[in-house]
Amino acid sequence: MAFFIPEDKLAEIRNTADIVDVVSSRVLLKKAGKDYTGLCPFHSEKTPSFTVSPSKQIFHCFGCGTGGNVFNFLMMYDNLSFPEAAENLARQYGISISARKMSGAEKQRMSEREQLLQINRKAADFFRKMLLKNPEGEYARNYLKNRKINRDLVDRFSLGFAPAGWNGLIRFFNRNRVAVDMAEKAGLVVPRKSGNGHYDRFRNRIIFPIADASGQIIAFGGRVLDDEKPKYLNSPETPVYNKRLTLYGLNASREACRTHHAVFVVEGYFDLITMHQFGIANTVATLGTSLTREHVRRLKGYAKKAFLVFDSDAAGVRAAQRTTGIFMDEGMDAAVVLLPEGHDPDSFLFARGAESFQQVAASAKGLVDFQIDASIGRNGLNLEGKVRIVSEMAEPLTQIADSAARSIYIRHLAERIGVDETTVLEKIAESREKSNAASDRPPGVAPDGHAWIPDRFEARVLAMMLQYPEIHDEIRTRAVLECFGDERLKAIGEQILNEYPHKVKTPAEFMNRLDDEDQRRLVAKLCIDEAPWGEQSCRMLLSQFFKAKEGKRGNGLLERIRAAEQKGDQDLVMKLLKEKQNQMAGRH
Ligand code: CTP
Ligand code: MN
Repeated sequence: MAFFIPEDKLAEIRNTADIVDVVSSRVLLKKAGKDYTGLCPFHSEKTPSFTVSPSKQIFHCFGCGTGGNVFNFLMMYDNLSFPEAAENLARQYGISISARKMSGAEKQRMSEREQLLQINRKAADFFRKMLLKNPEGEYARNYLKNRKINRDLVDRFSLGFAPAGWNGLIRFFNRNRVAVDMAEKAGLVVPRKSGNGHYDRFRNRIIFPIADASGQIIAFGGRVLDDEKPKYLNSPETPVYNKRLTLYGLNASREACRTHHAVFVVEGYFDLITMHQFGIANTVATLGTSLTREHVRRLKGYAKKAFLVFDSDAAGVRAAQRTTGIFMDEGMDAAVVLLPEGHDPDSFLFARGAESFQQVAASAKGLVDFQIDASIGRNGLNLEGKVRIVSEMAEPLTQIADSAARSIYIRHLAERIGVDETTVLEKIAESREKSNAASDRPPGVAPDGHAWIPDRFEARVLAMMLQYPEIHDEIRTRAVLECFGDERLKAIGEQILNEYPHKVKTPAEFMNRLDDEDQRRLVAKLCIDEAPWGEQSCRMLLSQFFKAKEGKRGNGLLERIRAAEQKGDQDLVMKLLKEKQNQMAGRH
């Protein structure tokens, strides 16, 4: 449950939770000198520019510019609020935070997200009790028994049952003082058309809670117990549920994905659960939507290769067409596993067992190869067939943004069907022109939308202040921040002077005090690749800084003195006058 975390507990979490540990459970990291690098989970890239510093306890991506401390990472990755991230880390590191009761005011402050997650937890408990204990759940228990889902799996996946009436959950919410408008926001209840009251969204269905990577329940899926339509019903998107990001089962599967360096992607709830039951735990499910770029970015943090499992040629071809470009852009290997027509992983495993499944998986073809073979299958290898194959393959081949990879596949296609490579190349050039003209897809990596370009010198002064607090007194006496031209940098500088050393001691801690994302990104960037600061380098920077400032603005010091006088800041006037004297002395 979400609650407010006392300062001392936060400090304990900060001191215990290691950023390398936390990030590496979501992103594959490699040691590179004193730091670790990996593929950034927040933008498309094929060469690692995402850097984690164990000594500074921060991360920064040189590609997209994002960065922060361990809390920020979790907040961004799992879409969490600060207290949620803290709570998460506390749980992971066995730090107990006493769950004192919230006051009314605290409840008010509890973010909408936290309230929704809490409602989801309550609903999941309700559904679970219904399944396990309620007489009405008998039918559902039998249904699961028939599908060979035992108690252990029910527990592992927190399965539940939504009763048949129209208001079982609503009544439970009333008893537990859950506000109906929040329940509606959570997607669990639906307003009546008449405008009068609400009814339960999920009725008479087996319930599959959907968790995010850290195990929080963010949505639900429900299956009918008979042939009613629709067979599956899912939560709508809510502030805590983003379909493009969510993969069912990821939380339960991530360890296994790491161990095997591979992940199976299946389509359904039962498919996923059955894969687990048969010991193939490195599996996630897409839940009726197609795999998105965001999904792939997440997956590559756990595995090097994805096996997309399909029940028919046609479904495989459609998915391969849609995702080849994404997997290529993201630099993740992917292959298509085709099960015999009419079988999904659930039915296949029960019919033939895990070993047969692994055999089929072993013959999986890469996405491009799979499309070539499918095209050959459709068109044959006679003359007309080859012409059609080349023209069918032109489009997927143009999707390969990487030119080296593209030419390898072009040669491969040419050899595979026995035509001249230049013929294929021409066809592809044609198709590229067409798609360039038609598409508005931006080439390559999406440009970073942040427009703030901070003053370099001033930024370096901040870097120094963050990492060498011994210099703060001098920054104060020489009124360095007064000559900052960039107001936002100046504000960060002032905050540093205010908060060091009593409230924070390190850049990683300082980040918790920044509300603005741009500021946090900048601080991470400033800290990650600076050589250690010392007395000497600080003095050098300050003298360069003043020289640059004076040069740029003529007699800048006089201006600052005038400004200070206008503000009536006598202390500052004195400081600046002293500075002026020093300067004059220095010139002689
Ligand atoms: N799905 C959905 N909405 C539907 C149908 C399907 O969200 N109306 C999603 C569900 O996640 C489902 C998956 O797509 O698990 C695959 O659908 P389907 O193959 O129809 O169902 P199965 O998973 O095979 O379901 P079952 O074995 O229970 O019949
Ligand atoms: Mn099925």
